[in-house]
Amino acid sequence: MPTTTAAETSSIVIRDARGQAEMRAVEELQKEVWGLPDLDVVPLSQLVAATAAGGVLLGAFDRETLVGFVYGFVGYEHGRAAHHSHMLAVKPGFRNHHLGQKLKLAQRERVLAQGINTMTWTFDPLQSPNAYFNFNKLGVISDRYIINFYGEDAASFLHRNGTDRLWVTWRLSSRRVSERIGGIKNAAPEIESVVPLVQIEKDNSPRLNNSTDGLSSEYVLIEIPADINKLERQSSELASAWRVVTRLAFTKALSSGYLVENFHRRSRGGQQISTYYLSRKKSLDDFV
Ligand SMILES: CC(C)(COP(=O)(O)OP(=O)(O)OC[C@H]1O[C@@H](n2cnc3c(N)ncnc32)[C@H](O)[C@@H]1OP(=O)(O)O)[C@@H](O)C(=O)NCCC(=O)NCCS
Repeated sequence: MPTTTAAETSSIVIRDARGQAEMRAVEELQKEVWGLPDLDVVPLSQLVAATAAGGVLLGAFDRETLVGFVYGFVGYEHGRAAHHSHMLAVKPGFRNHHLGQKLKLAQRERVLAQGINTMTWTFDPLQSPNAYFNFNKLGVISDRYIINFYGEDAASFLHRNGTDRLWVTWRLSSRRVSERIGGIKNAAPEIESVVPLVQIEKDNSPRLNNSTDGLSSEYVLIEIPADINKLERQSSELASAWRVVTRLAFTKALSSGYLVENFHRRSRGGQQISTYYLSRKKSLDDFV
């Protein structure tokens, strides 16, 4: 697949996607990015209604061509209005040039202008690139793990392994978010002594460490493979094992009062490791 250069993406404009032709292009891009059948595509009529009622649909346009979009609608959380961001996609050949980030930043501005300070969305916690994007580039936090959010069998080719999701919260005007979107990265805490609750073995299989059963330390670490999609192509059993073990670890840690706060990637003996950092004694409101 041909990929674009940074220079070629610099002229791409982020703006509202409006009118029938642009919304049809959003339908088509959903099919391309997620491989969705017609029945599972968010259709034009829904896009029209949601945006008329305060939802936001922004496109990344390379001249007339739609190469990315973000779509969300007004929601309600903890007694207040929130924005629920349902879909974010960038055309494969245009990725890793910050278009995803630019779409989220434009969406943030739009939502703040409506007087809403909280945005939520979900993502598959086994997808390391998405975890990096959400926690490191944007600064989300998560206090909720949802088992098979969209049911056991999702239509998308990206979701062959069930549809478990982390529900993430983006506190739009928090210092944490300002720092992350301003490029201030968070360093991984120096906690070599903490044994991860889930650890990746040399052969890429998951190990659940019972020694940390008590969940008594300040941090809980959950490791995931750097590329679950590649691993799934090699062995669907191994990918399922990762789902089972991480589901157990996240639900246990979150129900014990931890929050998913950070995510880091590093190399261990030549193997790429991605790690979630969960911390305790904080609530979502500590991040406002
Ligand atoms: C998620 C998505 C929208 C990101 O779009 P994008 O334009 O590539 O986003 P950006 O360029 O702003 O950021 C991507 C970041 O991921 C990093 N990245 C790329 N491959 C990675 C990998 N294998 N592991 C971890 N991080 C990775 C990039 O280095 C970049 O970070 P950097 O700017 O610090 O270098 C795009 O990948 C996509 O459409 N994915 C399929 C749909 C999807 O999963 N949507 C849900 C998103 S929560």
